Amino acid sequence: MLRFARSLMPARHFVTPTVRRSAAASVLMTGAVSIALLQLAGCDSRAAQSSPAASTQPPAIQQVAAPVSGQTRAQVFRQVKQMTVLGEKLFFDPSLSGSGKLACASCHSPQHAFGPPNALSVQLGGSDMRRAGFRAVPSLKYLQSVPQFTEHFHDSDDEGDESIDAGPTGGLTWDGRVDHGADQAKIPLTSSFEMGSTPAKVVAAAKAAPYADSMREAFGANIFDDDAKAFNAILRSLEAFEQAPQAFYPYTSKYDAFLAGKTQLTAAEMRGLQLFNDENKGNCASCHISQRAKDGTPPQFSDFGLIAIGVPRNRALPINKDPKYYDLGACGPERQDLKGDAEYCGIFRTPSLRNVATRKVFFHNGIYHSLDEVVRFYVERDTNPEKFYPVVHGKVQKYDDLPKQYWTNLNTDPPFDRKKGDKPALDETEIKDVVAFLNTLTDGYQQTK
Ligand code: HEC
Ligand code: HEC
Repeated sequence: MLRFARSLMPARHFVTPTVRRSAAASVLMTGAVSIALLQLAGCDSRAAQSSPAASTQPPAIQQVAAPVSGQTRAQVFRQVKQMTVLGEKLFFDPSLSGSGKLACASCHSPQHAFGPPNALSVQLGGSDMRRAGFRAVPSLKYLQSVPQFTEHFHDSDDEGDESIDAGPTGGLTWDGRVDHGADQAKIPLTSSFEMGSTPAKVVAAAKAAPYADSMREAFGANIFDDDAKAFNAILRSLEAFEQAPQAFYPYTSKYDAFLAGKTQLTAAEMRGLQLFNDENKGNCASCHISQRAKDGTPPQFSDFGLIAIGVPRNRALPINKDPKYYDLGACGPERQDLKGDAEYCGIFRTPSLRNVATRKVFFHNGIYHSLDEVVRFYVERDTNPEKFYPVVHGKVQKYDDLPKQYWTNLNTDPPFDRKKGDKPALDETEIKDVVAFLNTLTDGYQQTK
């Protein structure tokens, strides 16, 4: 029934912090653009290391020497740079939305690691700015390593055994349904409950914007003559901006400084790290990778696997007022291509935990609002389920957001390997330590001495 090695021989969960690299192409790195961006990044060994394109496809860097798609190297760099600058302007421009009030940055706030600016489980949008979304806004940082979605992920770094099938992995959004940043950007621009616009309106807004001339410079004087072409140029510029290394993957957290031997963790942070890694305690690192790859690539704090962990139903979401509605992640209803495939029901992409402490809303449905609650959910989901799920007539309604026929998909590796009454994998002090460690993953760390 379950066809992934993970369920029989759970590669992802039993292996001590192994590091996954993307075997498939990265979602945000598209051809020439990615190569040029690496160069823009300075592309010394450090920039190359922080890029999956560089670590998994070593020739990518050298390819730069060859002219790409008929352009000279210099032309490609120039265009990518223009697109990145333009993409940033588009990202912050509310005039692209139907209401004129919502920019990408309204939901993906740069002060919050390009995640939600507030504690709302889901944000409001649409033409009247009152329509609620149905998922929490993810951070847009560290997406550069997300591989394109694949049902069968084989990782050359997994104990050196590429025959292990780690199952569904990668893709953008919580259910991994989009493979490219440009395709992704189309969704919020046109969604009725987000920016609620149309390609023609978006193009008209860009044409009237102060950056219209930059668009002509980057894409040609006639770019606005063809709506489809102009819309595509806008999407590609947004994608280019999302790859800007300084803004989106700077690796400047305290933990990065610690890995580089430049700072020390406090006693609590250090205990937290150990509990995070320990297979018999938090076991967090089995999915949220915490160690550098063999080639030195900094950890992304996700293996990008799609996993069912039985997050409780968020009854505060308007969409959940319909008792028949279930957000089943990869098997729908939002994602269409795997519909009816029972083994994909309830699975969501493991998010990176970098900058997670800048968030006030957690999990795909935004049910929790503090890291303590999240970590407690992990370690007490099965030992004290009544703390997380509704109790009806004295009976706990466990896994209340996943119909019973899909429960076989639920992860049962530590810390989810217990039953009611067992001792939780972490006690309250240990939970605090793990949270202290999670706080070291925020970019922009300044050493005090
Ligand atoms: C109304 C709030 C809102 C606005 C505005 C918005 N987004 Fe999002 N964004 C979301 C939500 C919610 C998700 C998760 C969607 C899902 O899982 O189905 C998301 C997901 C994403 C992702 C995928 C992240 C991941 O972890 O895979 C990217 C990339 C993204 N948005 C970029 C953009 C861009 C570019 C814009 C502007 C064109 C934008 N967003 C505007 C709410 C918003
Ligand atoms: C079996 C894989 C797995 C393990 C083990 C695991 N996680 Fe997760 N983590 C996930 C997945 C999948 C999600 C998203 C689940 C969802 O929203 O439905 C997630 C989400 C999170 C989030 C929310 C992030 C956000 O942006 O909303 C935090 C925080 C987190 N995990 C911390 C931890 C900690 C701490 C541990 C160890 C105690 C841990 N995880 C163990 C897979 C895992």
